[in-house]
Amino acid sequence: MLDTALKNAHKVACAEYGGRVDIVRENVEPLLRVQNLEKRYERGGLFLARKSSTVTALAGVSLVIYPKTTLALVGGSGSGKSTLALCIACLESPTSGSIYLESKEITGLEEKELRSVRPQTQLVFQNPASSLNPRLTVLDIVTEPLDVQGLLSEREKGEKARELFDRVGLPLEKMLRRPHELSVGQKQRVAIARALVLNPKLLILDEALSALDCSIQAQIANLLLELQASLGFTYLFITHDFRMAVHLADEIAVMEQGQIVEFGKAESVFHNPKHFITRQMVNASMGIGVSPRPPEAS
Ligand SMILES: Nc1ncnc2c1ncn2[C@@H]1O[C@H](COP(=O)(O)OP(=O)(O)OP(=O)(O)O)[C@@H](O)[C@H]1O
Ligand SMILES: [Mg+2]
Repeated sequence: MLDTALKNAHKVACAEYGGRVDIVRENVEPLLRVQNLEKRYERGGLFLARKSSTVTALAGVSLVIYPKTTLALVGGSGSGKSTLALCIACLESPTSGSIYLESKEITGLEEKELRSVRPQTQLVFQNPASSLNPRLTVLDIVTEPLDVQGLLSEREKGEKARELFDRVGLPLEKMLRRPHELSVGQKQRVAIARALVLNPKLLILDEALSALDCSIQAQIANLLLELQASLGFTYLFITHDFRMAVHLADEIAVMEQGQIVEFGKAESVFHNPKHFITRQMVNASMGIGVSPRPPEAS
């Protein structure tokens, strides 16, 4: 019942932005294609007294990301952004729908295949303090994923680490420090270096700038832009912050209640928002008060 209502709402939302989830680029294959992805979580039900319920975190999400571009995914709390990120990174299994990375379907794979697919997509989270192992040196944190792969010698690992430190703007003398000895901005640079060490095809930044103050945010945002310009990375940038989305992204997808309600070129979504939720978020990012939501069409 709820699902039918969500599907109908999605159709209305899609009609509002023409159902477009793709800005076609001639002769370029998408790096990532998500098709009609659904994810439902079962909650509770362990005890007789508690009835189980279903949460629909993703209710038919479709999108594409082209190589060397950034798609910003903007949406309120609980709209399904992190669930989508986890499904794309093969850390959650969708209930239905498909995900293709460079035209290879990565949904429904066996654990053995997933082990070779997962490194191709890396996630950077909001809080570097909790995502970095406090007992390891920064050098070990950055090179740990290489140990799991077991491909490089100690010398090659050291070289790779030095190259990455240089790329992300970390002083080499910090290599043997532990995370608590670094500033919050340096910690996030370490998290980015670690995410890049296996040369992923897609980097997902899930609120990766949200815990930083404004000047550090700007520095890390510029680092992301520099890395994209020099190394051609592709980003899925998840944020509540519309202004940062416009600064970084080629395209913006706006999520609400597990659906993409608006999609388009970043500047156009920002300057000419079509959906009520988009207007609300754009206004909030400009510090403008929000008018009440219009009544739902019957
Ligand atoms: N493991 C889980 N079990 C049950 N429900 C979950 C689980 N993970 C997410 N949810 C629910 O799915 C919905 C989407 O959550 P999600 O974390 O993807 O939202 P989000 O857009 O990332 O929110 P935020 O901006 O707060 O990070 C929410 O209702 C959430 O409570
Ligand atoms: Mg989230």
